[in-house]
This record gives sequence, structure tokens and C-alpha cells, in this order.
Amino acid sequence: MNDAFLCACRGEPVEHTPVWLKRQAGRYLPEFMAIYRKMGFLNMCRTAEIAAEVTIQPVDIIGVDAAIIFSDITTTVVPMGMHLEYDDRRGPYYPDPISCAADVDRLIVPDASDDGLSFVYDAIRICAAELAGRVPLIGFAGAPLAMASFMVEGAMSRNYIKLRRMMFSDQATFLKLMDKITQHTTNYLRAQAAAGAQALMLFDSFAGIIGPLDFEELNLPFIERTFTDLQDTGVPLIYFGLGAHASLSKLSHCGADVISIDFGLSLSRAIKTLGEGVSVQGNLDPFVLFQSRDQIEKRVKATLAEGKAARGHVFNLGHGVMPGTPVDGVRAMVDAVHAHG
Ligand code: CP3
Repeated sequence: MNDAFLCACRGEPVEHTPVWLKRQAGRYLPEFMAIYRKMGFLNMCRTAEIAAEVTIQPVDIIGVDAAIIFSDITTTVVPMGMHLEYDDRRGPYYPDPISCAADVDRLIVPDASDDGLSFVYDAIRICAAELAGRVPLIGFAGAPLAMASFMVEGAMSRNYIKLRRMMFSDQATFLKLMDKITQHTTNYLRAQAAAGAQALMLFDSFAGIIGPLDFEELNLPFIERTFTDLQDTGVPLIYFGLGAHASLSKLSHCGADVISIDFGLSLSRAIKTLGEGVSVQGNLDPFVLFQSRDQIEKRVKATLAEGKAARGHVFNLGHGVMPGTPVDGVRAMVDAVHAHG
């Protein structure tokens, strides 16, 4: 079993620096696209055997040191009462977003044993069996703020005006929404660990839309609650936020074993701020993968050198793989990490 990923998460010695990528299963892989064109995105997510197949693709094709279950953060809250649609250009969206206190009151916090998300747990079981003795499997969910954002905006947003208006003008409703999402997310992640996920990650992709004071008052407590509740699963917990730069020192105590660093920060400086208590993940700019093999190798070496100062370093992008990324670029990055890490 290649357990470099789990060791790096825990700050234990590793034989080589492990690497995986957010969106390692996705549009850049012809093998993924062949299935995507036939089935469509949501059907892929909801068919456990297919979700398992594309989860394993990048392990076979690219040689990454961890698999991440193929799913989407937006599927999580469907059992709360959100209707989910997918548009090839816009991505996932909720046609009936949350806009008032009554909408939040109507949201259900389902029991994980009957939450309609068994396709995720089944996909995890299939992957865990097929990957046994190979690489670990990561489970994930959107962080409460990321989910609140999608649920209130209805889709990806440019300025998050509806969400931020609710946060400030009707804070009681916002907090009730965050509370319900947190309860459900914790149940969902716990069920993923029970099904065989060997690490659990929260994606907080819109953490940067509010300032540090509001981040620490209105978002961080829900992240801490989630990670505190999940300590007894015994698996490494990972926080993958984007733009939460000013709150890094606070994030070092949020209960996560690993903090992801986005490409907007220097990895060395982030490690100094975080201290010895956590491992780091990151943070190559995803557009470096559009460069030549030599250029990619140079940038990988520089990131590896910075990562040495950390308790543990999981090599990753400072965001996800972009559509159109050359497969050879992704492979060059993984090869360089394995050659020099
Ligand atoms: O990392 C992996 O390989 C696992 C799969 C995964 C997907 N989505 C599959 C996906 C993960 C971890 C996610 C998380 C996710 N989904 C986030 C948080 C992380 C981030 O990227 O910031 C968010 C915000 C979403 C919501 C989402 N899903 C959007 C806005 C879109 C459409 C636009 C876009 O960015 O592609 C998706 C589509 C999506 N999710 C695809 C895949 C493979 C489509 C195909 C692709 O772009 O590769």
C-alpha cells in the first residue's frame, strides 16, 4: 500500500512526497469525456459504478498517490430539499434557491442511513475495495459557507450579493442555514468514512468573499464544529479553502490535520504562519501545467523545496485542474514530484 499521502497528512516520515490534484477526474481526460458525453454529469455522479470508474482513472492514467471520490459538492444538499440541475456551460445550479427564513425552516436534516446519497457511499465502497493495497481514497464535502453560497445564489456567482446581503441584513437566518448545513455535512462525511473514505476534506472555495473578521465570526466556527465532531473517525481531516489568507493563523487550530494553501500565497510564508501543528497541501499555479515539461519540472522543484519546512507536505495545485489542461502537463507534474520529492 502506498500510504505516503496518509503519512504526510499526519506529519509522519514519507518515502516520497505524495501528490494528487483537485479535479484529477475531469474534462481534461479523454477517458472521462467519453463517459461524460454519453451520460451527462449528474448521471455520472449518481451511478456508483461509473463514479467509481472515473475516480480510479487518474490513479491508473496519471499515477497520483491518492484518489478523490468522483462527486460534486452540490449533490450533498439535495436531500435537504434542494432541487439540483446541471447545465453544460453553467455547471450545477439550484433552480429554487433559498431566499428567506421560511425557506431555511423548510430544509430537512436527514439521517445518513436514509439520505438518498447511497450512490456516494456505494461508490466509496467500490473504490475502497478496488484501491485496497494501492492508494488511499479521499471523501469530501463543501464547507458550510460554500454550500450556503450555492444554496442562496442558486449557482456559481460573480459577487455573491444575495448571500452577503443575507449575512449582514438577516444574520439570524444565515446562521440557522449554516447550522443546518453543518449538521448535515458532518453526518454525510461521517458516513463517507464509515463506507471506506480514508481522509475527509472540506472545500471552502468562496472563503475569500468576506473579510477576515467576518470569516472568523461567521464561517470559522462552523468549520471548527465540523472538524471537532469528526475527530473520532480517526481519519486525517483536510481544509481546502481559497482566499482565506488573512485567517491562516486561526485556521491552524480549526481541527484539520492539513491546511491547503492556494496559489495566491507563498508556501514558505504560509508554513511559517501555520506552525508545526499541521501539514500543508499545495500550491502550484494550475496554469503552470500548460507549460513545457522542463518548465513544469522547475516549478515543481521550487514548490517541493518550500514544502520541506512543513511538518508534512502533500503536493497539490493551488486550485483545481483547469479544463483544457494537457494530459502531458499533468503527467509531467506527477513525474517531477515523484522524481524529486
Ligand atoms: O477532484 C476531483 O477529481 C473530485 C471531483 C470533484 C468535482 N467537483 C467534480 C466536477 C470535486 C472535488 C468537486 C468540488 C466542487 N464542485 C467545488 C469545490 C472545489 C472547487 O473547484 O472550487 C465546487 C465549487 C463545485 C461546483 C462545481 N462543479 C462547478 C461550479 C462546476 C462547473 C464549473 C467548473 O468549475 O467546472 C462543477 C462541475 C464539475 N465538478 C466537473 C467535475 C469533474 C465538470 C467537469 C470539469 O470541469 O472537469
